[in-house]
Amino acid sequence: MSPMRHELSHEAEYQKGVKRLYENGIKHVPRKYILPETDRPNENSRSAKLNVKLPEIDCAQLKGPNRDGVLASLAYACENYGFFQLTNHGIPEEVINHMSDMSKRFFELPFADREKYMLSDMRSPVRYGTSFNQINDDVFCWRDFLKLVCDPQPDVLSHWPRSPIDLKESGVAYAKATKLLFLSLVQAILESLGIRGGDDGILKELENGSQILVMNCYPPCPEPELTVGMLPHSDYGFLTLLLQDEIRGLQIHHQDHWVTVEPVPGSFVVNVGDHLEIFSNGRYKSVLHRVLVNSSNYRISVASLHSLSFTSTIQPSSTLIDESNPRRYKDTDFSSFLEFVKSRDSTKKNFIESRKLYRK
Ligand code: OGA
Ligand code: NI
Repeated sequence: MSPMRHELSHEAEYQKGVKRLYENGIKHVPRKYILPETDRPNENSRSAKLNVKLPEIDCAQLKGPNRDGVLASLAYACENYGFFQLTNHGIPEEVINHMSDMSKRFFELPFADREKYMLSDMRSPVRYGTSFNQINDDVFCWRDFLKLVCDPQPDVLSHWPRSPIDLKESGVAYAKATKLLFLSLVQAILESLGIRGGDDGILKELENGSQILVMNCYPPCPEPELTVGMLPHSDYGFLTLLLQDEIRGLQIHHQDHWVTVEPVPGSFVVNVGDHLEIFSNGRYKSVLHRVLVNSSNYRISVASLHSLSFTSTIQPSSTLIDESNPRRYKDTDFSSFLEFVKSRDSTKKNFIESRKLYRK
């Protein structure tokens, strides 16, 4: 064994992330990242070749005379896909470009600069990490990430990385714009569920809710058929707004197949999270998704995760439950999630399954 291979074979090295492995010129995927055969993305299977064009929601039309038509499309998308592509969202191109550009530059920083933020505390306002849950994962994923908690401001900002120099400015502008977009989407979603604005106080709760930006980096992988960038999971939270670059990788589980989401420049991929599934009492479902890696391209994505505040409890909307449609989910808060994540496998839909009152 060469000194390099020997060094890389140590568990401690894997904790430092895959960007570093790739930069060290790794030629084979280490055993730590090799999935059991049944969990591997099978490039040759028929289903892996399917691409899907997500239902498109035109945000500008939500403000026009066709609002009802768009609300019907929104309901259709949330019920049948759990995902949609959001176009004409009105966030200035430069806000988006600064964010994706800054994300790229963060991952290009020397490892010593990124390492400072490798903290194991799940509640930390900033956390650099690798894999899915690097404390628990038996098999590691081919992904590094930076999580930025966006509120309460300005308190959290003093914890955010100092470099790249424009990280705070770009991150704050992006967080602000996506939060406003999220809130206008929530209004539309409530309406699509037949809930009037003020009912349940959910809108207020979400206005004062939490937002986390996750910058994901998927370096090229020498043997992409043996591993994944992210394991199948659903998102904790109400909605996720995802910015993906032009490199394919995101797949959603749709009608029993894994299908690849075609990148649409200038738009967001939006998906239903576990909180919305609970709130809608199961009418809208969070959908499993995963990320594949490839051998030639870096892929960068930025997910904006929107949830209730860390101290709030989510429950099915009182408007949506009655004797013939009883509540299907337990009250759920962030502590129950943290407890679950610490002790159990939080991939697949394991967490939300654990919150169900009845199993079908
Ligand atoms: C996530 C996620 C998808 C992607 O961050 O939860 O699913 O394409 N990301 O990076
Ligand atoms: Ni996700």
